[in-house]
Amino acid sequence: MQDLAGKHIVLGLTGGIACYKSAELCRLIVKAGGTVQVVMTEAAEQFITPVTMQALSGRTVYTSQWDAREPNNMPHINLSREADAIVLAPCSADFIARLVQGRADELLSLMCLARPIDRVPLLIAPAMNREMWAHPATQRNLMQVAADGATVLGVGSGWQACGETGDGRMLEPAQLLEDITAFFAPKLLAGHKLLVTAGPTFEPLDPIRGITNHSSGKMGFAIARAAREAGAEVTLVAGPVHLPTPRGVSRIDVLSAEDMLEATLRAARSASIFIATAAVADWRPATHSEQKIKKDGSGKTPALSFVENPDILLAVAKSERAQAGKLFCVGFAAESENLVEHAKAKRERKGIPLLVGNIGPLTFGQDDNALLLVDAKSTRELPRAPKLTLARELMTEIAARLPDWRV
Ligand code: CTP
Repeated sequence: MQDLAGKHIVLGLTGGIACYKSAELCRLIVKAGGTVQVVMTEAAEQFITPVTMQALSGRTVYTSQWDAREPNNMPHINLSREADAIVLAPCSADFIARLVQGRADELLSLMCLARPIDRVPLLIAPAMNREMWAHPATQRNLMQVAADGATVLGVGSGWQACGETGDGRMLEPAQLLEDITAFFAPKLLAGHKLLVTAGPTFEPLDPIRGITNHSSGKMGFAIARAAREAGAEVTLVAGPVHLPTPRGVSRIDVLSAEDMLEATLRAARSASIFIATAAVADWRPATHSEQKIKKDGSGKTPALSFVENPDILLAVAKSERAQAGKLFCVGFAAESENLVEHAKAKRERKGIPLLVGNIGPLTFGQDDNALLLVDAKSTRELPRAPKLTLARELMTEIAARLPDWRV
């Protein structure tokens, strides 16, 4: 997906071992359709060569404010005027301090100072030792650069090149790409708290076995990502799936439908949008054996009986908050035939403003899907596309319906 098509990123590298990750970040931005102009400090050149960055970006790298290639000899002006954003990755503790002071004695800091502050955003991916990160001077400087208009992308936690473990690692290239993409997305859902359920549920029979289904959770996770990109504060209640949590999303893992109901009802108390994508098991075993159910050698199979699970979407849609118009509820319908009729009937049965229909066997486990949006007035098809593309379109559709709903 060309998420950064048409975007020109000035990628600034400062001195830190995380420079090796910047090579991959550059590649990812180019793969996402963006163009990259690399600018490196002298310290960055100690960690990675301009040759590597030139090969990956397809452009000669700038390292000096005296670069004579520019006809007017002002690379700090020319480079910053072309940029849709300046991304500093890695941004060292020293460079953050330099930004705070408005220093301008080498190309990268000079360019950051000279950028048109209203038009060219500055994104910072700090990288440093955990003690340096925790130091009050660094934290004070970060607050100041944020107050001066920069966006601080945060840091990762874990093993550091110095051998210590803690906060301060640069975010991984894929995480940075996700953050940069999110930064450019229109903030259609700013101020909203969006809750989404995703994946299957697992209904235990004994400690070893249970019943579940083929839902991969991909649609729900794509929705969580798209909602965060659109500026919402996102809670994702996930059944058992092995998908990475989208950046900036808080995730609650659950197993059974009853666990999912409890976690969802709790989070729904403060949510303004609820989207139910989970493929909740309709039934669970009536009894749960504490020990493994064993064969007794007679060839007889165990007699299993089931009870119906709670309908999570229905419970949320019937809640006081939803009934008062403070929680916009969206359901999904996985059907195998007659999508339009089933989706219309299901929307009315669940008492929700918007229902998204899809054909179950054509979506489970797939990376793309086709959706049918059904509301009280109309139906609209979103043709087959990657789930993230559809999730972004769905956020636009929801945002368009909210003004009539907000109380
Ligand atoms: N859903 C839910 N809790 C359940 C069952 C379904 O929250 N116990 C939600 C799903 O997340 C989805 C919607 O309800 O958003 C519709 O799910 P679906 O399985 O298509 O429909 P059902 O309500 O189970 O109806 P049917 O089995 O008759 O198709």
